[in-house]
Amino acid sequence: MERLQKVIAKSGLTSRRKAEELIKLGKVKVNGKTIQELGLKVSESDRIEVDNKILEKENKEYYLLNKPRGVITSTQDDKYRKTVIDLINTTARIYPVGRLDYDTTGALLLTNDGDFANIIMHPTSEIDKVYLAKLEGIIKGEEINKLKTGVKIDNIEVHASRVKLKKINKEANTCLVEITIHEGKNHQVKKMFEAVGFSVIKLTRKRIGIFEIKNLNSGNYRKLTPKEVQIIYSYKK
Ligand code: URA
Repeated sequence: MERLQKVIAKSGLTSRRKAEELIKLGKVKVNGKTIQELGLKVSESDRIEVDNKILEKENKEYYLLNKPRGVITSTQDDKYRKTVIDLINTTARIYPVGRLDYDTTGALLLTNDGDFANIIMHPTSEIDKVYLAKLEGIIKGEEINKLKTGVKIDNIEVHASRVKLKKINKEANTCLVEITIHEGKNHQVKKMFEAVGFSVIKLTRKRIGIFEIKNLNSGNYRKLTPKEVQIIYSYKK
């Protein structure tokens, strides 16, 4: 059993807040009866109507995309730039799970399943988000340790669960660092490196939990298997 407004939002019709407004306005019926209170819980078998139209329950879809550079991680853009949704061939109302910056490439999950998205995003699930960052300058052990013990970004302390120096280019004065985090705050990786004095020249997300982009070319995507979705649900706390 789930709350009526949650079921309406999950169908992809509208947001949960908008669904609450529709209920209060008397636009929602359950099994033919208008419901105006917000507490009601409904089950799969209940017939829900919004504005006298039966609520279609959208099938759940799950994708892993290798996001190219120069694409917005959003469902729409007011400047009409290309979004990650434009890259996926579906009519379902999917959305990205978290976000990658315009210039960041790599693993991005998209779905219309809010519960799945919450499990991936929530730090308590401890799902690895593994990034490869090219830095201006060459990072030292001391700075790597700081990233692991904790740095402040936007007044919140965050830390990396792993940091590995992968390559040094002395001539170009750059290095490649693999960093693993569990949260997904805005520009988190760039801000973490900034906090220890480095700017990120290039950023790629290599892996989110069990999902690696290894076999996907830039701009390509694949559907997740039911088994993979089940594995993510097993992380639910
Ligand atoms: N951290 C960033 O700084 N940018 C991204 O796109 C993802 C994580």
